Amino acid sequence: MNAEEKKERFIVTSALLYVNNVPHLGNLVCVVSADVFARYLKSRGKDVISVLGTDEHGTTTEIKALEEGLSPKEITDKYVKIHKKIYDFFLCKPDCFGRTSSEENKRITIELFNRLDENGYISEDEVDEYYCPRCNRVLADRFVKGKCKICGYEGARGDQCENCGSLLETGQLENPRCAICNGDVEIIKSRHLFLELSLLEDELRELLNSKRDMWSENAITMTEGWLNKGLQKRCITRDLKWGIPVPKKGYENKVFYSWFDAPIGYIGITAECRKEWKEWWKSEETRLVQFMGKDNIPFHSILFPAILIGSSEGYVLVDTLSVNEYLNYYGGKFSKSANRGLFGDDIVELGIRADAWRYYLMINRPEKADTDFTWDDFADKLNNELVANLGNLINRIMVFLDRNYGGVLPHAELNEKDEAFFEEEKRLIENVENFFNRIQLKAALKEIMRISSLGNRYMQENSPWDESIPKERRDSSMNVLANLAKDLAILIEPFMPGISEDIFKQLNIQRLDWNSLMKPMLKEGHAVGKPIKLFSKISAQEIEELKRRFSEELHMEDKKCLELEVGLIKEAKEHPNADKLFVLKVDFGDEEIQLVAGLKKYYTKEELLGKKIIVVRNLKHAMLRGIESQGMLLAADDGNDVGLLSVDAEPGTLVSFEGEKKVRRCKELTIDELMENFSMEVINGEAFVNGKRMLADGKPVRAERIDNGRVR
Ligand code: 2FM
Ligand code: ZN
Repeated sequence: MNAEEKKERFIVTSALLYVNNVPHLGNLVCVVSADVFARYLKSRGKDVISVLGTDEHGTTTEIKALEEGLSPKEITDKYVKIHKKIYDFFLCKPDCFGRTSSEENKRITIELFNRLDENGYISEDEVDEYYCPRCNRVLADRFVKGKCKICGYEGARGDQCENCGSLLETGQLENPRCAICNGDVEIIKSRHLFLELSLLEDELRELLNSKRDMWSENAITMTEGWLNKGLQKRCITRDLKWGIPVPKKGYENKVFYSWFDAPIGYIGITAECRKEWKEWWKSEETRLVQFMGKDNIPFHSILFPAILIGSSEGYVLVDTLSVNEYLNYYGGKFSKSANRGLFGDDIVELGIRADAWRYYLMINRPEKADTDFTWDDFADKLNNELVANLGNLINRIMVFLDRNYGGVLPHAELNEKDEAFFEEEKRLIENVENFFNRIQLKAALKEIMRISSLGNRYMQENSPWDESIPKERRDSSMNVLANLAKDLAILIEPFMPGISEDIFKQLNIQRLDWNSLMKPMLKEGHAVGKPIKLFSKISAQEIEELKRRFSEELHMEDKKCLELEVGLIKEAKEHPNADKLFVLKVDFGDEEIQLVAGLKKYYTKEELLGKKIIVVRNLKHAMLRGIESQGMLLAADDGNDVGLLSVDAEPGTLVSFEGEKKVRRCKELTIDELMENFSMEVINGEAFVNGKRMLADGKPVRAERIDNGRVR
């Protein structure tokens, strides 16, 4: 593409991240990329609206709400603040920041749906759905987990496998389990609405073919794969409460699939912030430039364009699709639940300036393949590139001007060598522009660093400190260098706006844009300001400390531990809002807790009273249908029947695991950590954890009624 030829306007978007979690460093790649590109366009004098926000509907939010005992609305209100704080820290300055749960987004989503329906792109069908009898809940999307039947990845969710990128339908998970209670799921039937993607196949193929130069390779490959396989209709409604209600008779109790309203969110967010939003979104002059991670491709290359084309409302379609691969942490995924990796809230507190992080993210931008974050690499990029090259050059120029010229710029009499230097600078700036125009942000930044190296070389060769060189020549070099510092401030602004501002301040000039490159704006007699240090090196000791604080090994030492305790059931009541659940009072001698358990199919209230059961005591408390469960009781399941684990020991006895010496109190576990770290089963009636027998007071814990089965 060639950004400068036509006088277009640009809408630049970053993927709207799920608001159920704190974004990690890898999530920030596309957010920072979009900010860098929007700043570049603005510096070039283009009309730009950059859009950022949070994706708030869907099961990711509902699951988090259950975990934290808050309502979905409360969760989004809480996390949107956290997201905002992190984006602010990272100096990401969108023109419009908003939320997919806004009124405008609801209105536009409903309008687009109605148009799609009128135009014949919506169909109805009865489908299978996962249902958890223990939680009494239809399990949409992320409420189900299992093994992807397409690639074999174990951690796939109901609607998507983030490993192979496939979008999944019910039935495409092997061994599907409930993401809330990890229990087996059933399949039920329900009527839903579908977007008939196949009717739009020609238009979508045409879109791809017309944009081959503008989409990153991974986006082209995946979209081609989809089109070649033949498009399937996609279910766009869900049996959930949290979301945008479906405006159609018979569907009053359903909401839209969150991936239906999420991309419409880009429009909704613009509409909330600009009265004239339609002039942008419905204009042929607008170019829509979208940044995202690779798991988002089909939603932006197929689903979102299909919604817009099918509605025939004249919305602009994606022009540039820039898709990054993943940034990983030491070769593995970032995971908040496993406490692995580096998250925005930690980064904000570390005291390393945002510009250093932005530099790191962009110079390592995973464009062709996944890339690893390591602390050594971070220190290397900061110390040996940013500080040693750019920081050093600016500092040498400013200190030299201050000490030897009292900060006042000397006269310049340019010679051939200076002209050769300008030629080279010009050539490199053209490279920067070409890379920017192809959204090769990493290459653009590298080229800017080459300009900085060129400056260091010029200063060395012209040695303004060497008194054997004529004074006029030394003065000229310093004038050239001061103007180069100005150029660098302009060039780095998209990438490092904070450092750019500091350089302008030191030069004692207002911020300038791309137009002022290669122009001798700083004239003889101009007084510059005092030198300021731009970056500090990060010491070997600091890096070691950071490694210790954030390394995986740390968390390995801090191995997950499971705390099981014998409890006595003192009371059993029906759950007021769920017909499969009991609410129990369980006594441990010195403490009484409340548990919610899905046992109604297997035990009567009377049978439960007085039983000595085994309770996971360090499980994060959860709200189950409005009632808090302060732990989880263990039961065995052979596929047919369910029986409680039990032992004849005093309430309050801690369960030990055969061969392990210590019986101890443990740190809190989430349900995911419990499932990931401990496998429990019953063999010949006896209960085992990770292959070790459970013992209470030396007696084996046994399952009632079950000889061999899984424990959960
Ligand atoms: O992957 C994610 O975090 C999604 N919430 C991205 C959505 S992008 C847009 F469609 F909203
Ligand atoms: Zn369940």
